[in-house]
Amino acid sequence: MFPNIVLVGFMGSGKSSVGRELARGTGYRFRDTDLLVRSRVGKSIPEIFAVHGEAFFRAQENAVLRSLQRERAMVLATGGGIVLDPANGPLLRRLGPVVWLVADESTIWERVSRNPNRPLLRTANPRQTVRKLLNARQDLYAAVADFSVDSTGLDHQQVARQILATVRDWPGRGDERPTQNPGP
Ligand code: S3P
Repeated sequence: MFPNIVLVGFMGSGKSSVGRELARGTGYRFRDTDLLVRSRVGKSIPEIFAVHGEAFFRAQENAVLRSLQRERAMVLATGGGIVLDPANGPLLRRLGPVVWLVADESTIWERVSRNPNRPLLRTANPRQTVRKLLNARQDLYAAVADFSVDSTGLDHQQVARQILATVRDWPGRGDERPTQNPGP
């Protein structure tokens, strides 16, 4: 049985919604690194970026991840940039199976353009920023993930079902993992 489930992926790939769905389906607790950073610092994510800068945010993200290392029976949704700090890879993988939620660029754009709370996308050309960040991060998600699920065209329940079908027979300890190609 899997100790936890960890979701990584770009902004707008559905980590929080799918994570809540997985938590409902498993009875596991739902945790979200963005929410934990927010309550730890006592400010919203845009405020943290504006007042303290991205490096401070990344340090908080790493501290939150370290604080979760003893958790079990948790579904963890992570911020899209959690893979940027190389120290986070082993911390994520130690928790349990790491799932990369993939969505195509136009789906991501459609989702993120509805929500103004992402400081990294407050640029002159946010659509281009999405493309650049996606390209820069693909390999990082692939490196940390055990497998990927493409959520394009699927609803959250369908994505959660696919994930559960894959992790159902996962070994108990986070470091004994079947060999799988994360794809896509
Ligand atoms: C970020 C993604 C956000 C949040 C912050 C930075 C990123 O989380 O952590 O705005 O660098 O991709 P979501 O992926 O939940 O939007």
